[in-house]
Formats: sequence, structure tokens, C-alpha cells
Amino acid sequence: MRVETSSPAGTERVGRSLGRLLREGDLVLLSGELGAGKTRFVKGLAAGAGVARAAEVVSPTFLRLEEYGDPPRVLRHVDAYRMAGGADLEALGGGDLQGAGGFMVIEWPEHVEEALPPDGLLLRFSHRGPRARRLDVTARGPRGRALLRALRAALRKGRG
Ligand SMILES: Nc1ncnc2c1ncn2[C@@H]1O[C@H](COP(=O)(O)OP(=O)(O)O)[C@@H](O)[C@H]1O
Ligand SMILES: [Mg+2]
Repeated sequence: MRVETSSPAGTERVGRSLGRLLREGDLVLLSGELGAGKTRFVKGLAAGAGVARAAEVVSPTFLRLEEYGDPPRVLRHVDAYRMAGGADLEALGGGDLQGAGGFMVIEWPEHVEEALPPDGLLLRFSHRGPRARRLDVTARGPRGRALLRALRAALRKGRG
């Protein structure tokens, strides 16, 4: 599925629609160059999931991991930009980030590819202009496919 947005708020809205659908164990991967809107998307996602207000969401710095919400509904937001492989991701959670419950969003997933769980939703962000962005959404595994179907339906409803 391809989604075009024409403003930061538009990208945040798509994130909010996805956030509403998330449940424990879910994985969302956000790929795309710096400034493409990945962190902006997570602001909406966190708000939609009910774990934080958009303004509270920042680009992860300390240990490249930020957590929002209360157990079991915890959002783990990882920025893997400076990571050099799967071991860096595993080090964050003692190898058990998923087992810890909650759901996870990872920016720069290609930097930690070997450590990624196989099932989830992948969004590729690209610049189409100063305020235009394209989000190419693909599924990996059965839960990823279910999320993709549900997101498509939610975005259709939002337009109509
Ligand atoms: N349509 C858009 N969607 C998202 N961000 C946008 C859009 N248009 C302009 N921007 C700007 O691009 C920047 C995206 O930053 P950020 O979300 O931190 O990117 P990333 O996490 O991908 O590096 C922000 O300054 C935001 O205001
Ligand atoms: Mg970012």
C-alpha cells in the first residue's frame, strides 16, 4: 500500500491510525532517510495507541530506546541509526525485547536486520517535496498482513 502525505500533521495522522490498531507483541519498522518523517510518524502512533501525547515523543537518544505507557501497554521506540548490527539491538533488552511485552517501533531497521522478529509491518518513507512524503507500507508475516489490511480500512474510512 502507498500513502502520500502533504504535511507533518498528515504523516502524524497516518501514525495515529496505525497506533489505534496495535496490540502486545506487534512490530513496526520505519525505514527511510533522515528527515523523512519517521519520528513524526511515531508521535501520532504513540497518541493513537494511547501511551503518550504526541508532544511527549522525542527521537530516542539515551541507549537509543524510549519507552512510553504502562505495562502491559508499553511502546518501545528504538532508533537504530547508530547501531552496527543485531547484537546492538539485543543488548537493549537482554535479548528479550519482544518477550518483555508491549509493542515496538524501530527506525533504521536495516542496521539491525539479523535481530528483527519475522512478523510485522514495514513502512518505507521517502521525500517527494519540502512537505510531501510517500509511505510505502508492506507486510511481513501474518500479523503484518492483518495490520496492513486494518490500516488500509482505517485510512479509507478517514477519507470518506
Ligand atoms: N509530510 C511530512 N511528514 C513528516 N514530516 C514532514 C513532512 N513535511 C515536512 N516534514 C518535516 O520533516 C522533518 C521530519 O523529521 P523526523 O520525523 O525527525 O524524521 P526522521 O525521524 O525520519 O529522521 C520534520 O522537521 C517535519 O516537520
Ligand atoms: Mg527519527
